[in-house]
Amino acid sequence: MQVVETIPALRAARAALSGQVGLVTTMGALHAGHLALVAAAREENDATLVTIFVNPTQFGPNEDLSKYPRDLPRDLALLEAAGADLVFTPTPALMYPPGFQTAVAVEVISQGLEGGHRPGHFQGVATVVAKLFNLAGADRAYFGQKDAQQVAVIRTMAQDLNFPLAVIVCPTVRESDGLAMSSRNMYLSPEQRRAAPVLYRALLAAGESYAAGERNPEALESQMQAVLAGEPLAQVEYVSVADARTLQPVTDEADSPLLLSMAVKVGVTRLIDNMLLPGELNTRAGLTQMLGGEPPAP
Ligand code: PAF
Repeated sequence: MQVVETIPALRAARAALSGQVGLVTTMGALHAGHLALVAAAREENDATLVTIFVNPTQFGPNEDLSKYPRDLPRDLALLEAAGADLVFTPTPALMYPPGFQTAVAVEVISQGLEGGHRPGHFQGVATVVAKLFNLAGADRAYFGQKDAQQVAVIRTMAQDLNFPLAVIVCPTVRESDGLAMSSRNMYLSPEQRRAAPVLYRALLAAGESYAAGERNPEALESQMQAVLAGEPLAQVEYVSVADARTLQPVTDEADSPLLLSMAVKVGVTRLIDNMLLPGELNTRAGLTQMLGGEPPAP
């Protein structure tokens, strides 16, 4: 595994990779969710490129940029064991040199849900991912379902700007009690950690109602709210029932696939989770069809 820190070194190492390249972009603090993306990239490509960069422009002024977990030696050891071929670890000064002034705004799908609560977040994400897509020259880029809106924003950006790569979405990897893997889970105290699976329980409850025939979006949302209300440590930021492709809120009973999603604070830690309905869509193929996308025709 080769580790590069500069753009000329990345370009040289990328040029030396042969065949199809899979890209996994990360902010480090790697967990089993990231490693599942690396495994998928390895399986479906000839070489795997991973980026580790805690992107300052996607953090709001009161968010956790300074305390975001960083452990590069541990991350590199995990990536080596996972079989990554090339790892790019730029600094903020390299990605945003003096005079940097370009931003990528994906206007509509960035609004609402996470975008509604984290102003500027998706502009930061779209800009850094556009830069990483340009630098990586990958054939496929792999993202996790947990950040469902993020991947829909990136898919839209990739299509609108004609990036010739497929955006692949892999299912959320969960702890044994259902908590979605996240680098931020390490902020939770033991008591908060015990409370945190309530997000998944709320999604499962709505999913079961849907499977039993419930199609009313308000009823599905109330059901999630009721489960969350049963956990005193959970402070709900939003709970949403949206169209799975457009992410627009659904108000009437609809037959089209749904994205249930939520952001909930447990203590000061903000957790997010989501599920597609019907439940069969929560597979690599279903998620990629709804939230990801194939490259534009040549
Ligand atoms: O999901 C993440 O880790 C980040 O938002 C990403 C896609 C690496 C962009 O900084």
